[in-house]
Amino acid sequence: MERTIVRYGADVLERVAAPVTDITGAEARLVQDMVRVMYQAPGVGLAAPQVGVSQRIMVTDTSAGEKPDHLLVLVNPEIVDTAGEQYEEEGCLSIPGFSERVRRPGKVVVRGLDMDGREQVLEGSGLLARAFCHELDHLNGVFFLDHVSFIKRDRIRRRIRKLIKQNEW
Ligand code: NI
Repeated sequence: MERTIVRYGADVLERVAAPVTDITGAEARLVQDMVRVMYQAPGVGLAAPQVGVSQRIMVTDTSAGEKPDHLLVLVNPEIVDTAGEQYEEEGCLSIPGFSERVRRPGKVVVRGLDMDGREQVLEGSGLLARAFCHELDHLNGVFFLDHVSFIKRDRIRRRIRKLIKQNEW
């Protein structure tokens, strides 16, 4: 099955994704697809609901495929600690063409499983901290737009609704 990016407006992006109970070949194939889709875009992170799968899996690569060791896969991730603050521009592969500054922690510690089911604790700051927060939000049906002012969010939503009507979304 050829997986592609699901855009804002799709139900799967609004749902709280289900925890992964068993990491099987299906999950391994899903992660392979997610990584491929993320690099093709190109983007620095992707959550499973963005390819239409309501499971708690996310991938990030702040090098966008330039450095193989930057690829991180997290199953059932949760934020265990945060510190500081940053206020930087964010976009989303599911909301192409729009970006806004979003307030995020400056540093984030995330705990989750790797694809072998082993617990891993990862720390990120700057762009990686933003990517962790952004992708984890997707697993809870939350968009970066939910972190901006009502006025900005409403303006973008109206523009997207128009694009949907014109079949350009
Ligand atoms: Ni996104």
